[in-house]
Amino acid sequence: MSALNTSARIAVIGAGAMGAGIAQVAAQAGHPVLLLDNRPGAAAQAIEGIDRQLGKRVENGKLSADSRSATIARLQAVEAIEVLADCDLIIEAIVENLEVKRALFRQLESICGEHCILASNTSSLSITRIAAQLDHPQRLLGLHFFNPAPVMALVEIVSGLASDPALAQCLYDTAKAWGKKPVHTRSTPGFIVNRVARPFYAESLRLLQEGAADCPTLDALMREAGGFAMGAFELTDLIGHDVNYAVTCSVFDAYYNDTRFLPSLIQKELVDGGRLGRKSGQGFYSYAQGAERPQAAEISSTASVEVCMAEGDLGIARGLLARLREQGVEVIQRDGSGLLRVGDAVLALSDGRMACQRAREDGLRNLILLDLTLDYSKAQRIAISYAAGIDPLALDQGIALLQRAGFKVSPLSDSPALAVLRTVAMLANEAADALLQGVASAADIDLAMRAGVNYPQGPLAWADAIGLSHILNVLENLQASYGEERYRPSLLLRRRIAEGRTFHD
Ligand code: NAI
Repeated sequence: MSALNTSARIAVIGAGAMGAGIAQVAAQAGHPVLLLDNRPGAAAQAIEGIDRQLGKRVENGKLSADSRSATIARLQAVEAIEVLADCDLIIEAIVENLEVKRALFRQLESICGEHCILASNTSSLSITRIAAQLDHPQRLLGLHFFNPAPVMALVEIVSGLASDPALAQCLYDTAKAWGKKPVHTRSTPGFIVNRVARPFYAESLRLLQEGAADCPTLDALMREAGGFAMGAFELTDLIGHDVNYAVTCSVFDAYYNDTRFLPSLIQKELVDGGRLGRKSGQGFYSYAQGAERPQAAEISSTASVEVCMAEGDLGIARGLLARLREQGVEVIQRDGSGLLRVGDAVLALSDGRMACQRAREDGLRNLILLDLTLDYSKAQRIAISYAAGIDPLALDQGIALLQRAGFKVSPLSDSPALAVLRTVAMLANEAADALLQGVASAADIDLAMRAGVNYPQGPLAWADAIGLSHILNVLENLQASYGEERYRPSLLLRRRIAEGRTFHD
């Protein structure tokens, strides 16, 4: 079954933020769209809102006046559900409540023809459960848009136990024809994005709780080292802590309190205190008028460095050497186990052990651990950590070397796997479990994280690039350091390593 023809009649129920956006997307794609809300007048108001939005785009030269009027002409506000009788696809975007949604779909079944596809935009409810009481549960699927729907490319096509695969494919093709990036996923808690993204927030929150660094430093690291569009604190301030915390709690509950999804007490306190982020004027940061964003912590050195020694292959961090050479630093290469020596300091990419532990176990004096960066040849910032007793002169030389390469250097307390590395390892681990459990394909998981939350790299492809053995090592060391289930490596990670494969093989 291919994409729905543009003559197919679409209805959207719920004219709130999501419903209005979805109606706009379908109308812009050329479908006649009916919009219904149980608040009298709400659907008409939503269409006026869409018209205003499109008007701004016309003013900015991004849309023609003809497209605007054609889109608006295709949108019709309706006040009675019976009017939806001859629709081909009905998308529900009403209140996130299982019983209310179930009642609505049962009512729709009694009104609509058998060919009509029913879809829910739910972000947290089970499609299997919503469909279970229907006479034709095979025609109900999830069609999960992201906010704002006209802007965000990702749509998760969610199949429950009874969903018809041909209808899933039809919705996939239809979403594609609407200019979206659809992915297939099974109806499991959080689907792809709201599950796999949890460690992005959780690891920064944990580092904050442990005093490893402050919010601006961790945020700057995620952006300027990790290549993410925003750090966890600025992003949750934007999303709203009530919303983000509720999603974490719902995923945590749905997975029977798996500690991988453990909510953060720091975030709970913000919610308790009404510090919901931008919308309340205060979250991790203040949004009061004139409030200044605190600066990320940096350490600098005035030492001069002209030569360093690379021992063995630095793996994913090898781009650092080219960068040093470009800056005129002589890099002497010799055999070894992936270390970079400068003066009395030795620098190494973190393997998940704390600097104090690795220094002792590997007999490395003045060890400085480097965090992951998305691209060592381009990143603007890097985190380092070191053991308490490091020689200050050696530390100074290590920092000077990184500065010569052009990095801003942010210190973290001596924490296992620093910040970006532990976040990416945990994102990849969650993605691996989702893949193992057949939630979605590797390609769709990576696409979902890039298109749904703008990650610079899909977590599985990122893990492939870092090396699966390194990711496993990092997770095992995190698990050993914390003694917690939370960091247990996915079976699929071990299996792919044993098979000599990557995630995308
Ligand atoms: P909203 O509160 O902005 O809008 C919901 C609309 O549905 C309201 O206008 C309300 O009057 C109407 N409504 C409630 N019960 C109804 C019923 N029985 N019949 C007809 N209309 C009814 O909510 P929002 O944010 O648009 O969310 C809607 C759905 O989309 C929820 O299931 C939510 O979980 C999901 N979602 C929300 C996202 C978001 O970021 N806000 C992202 C992705 C999914």
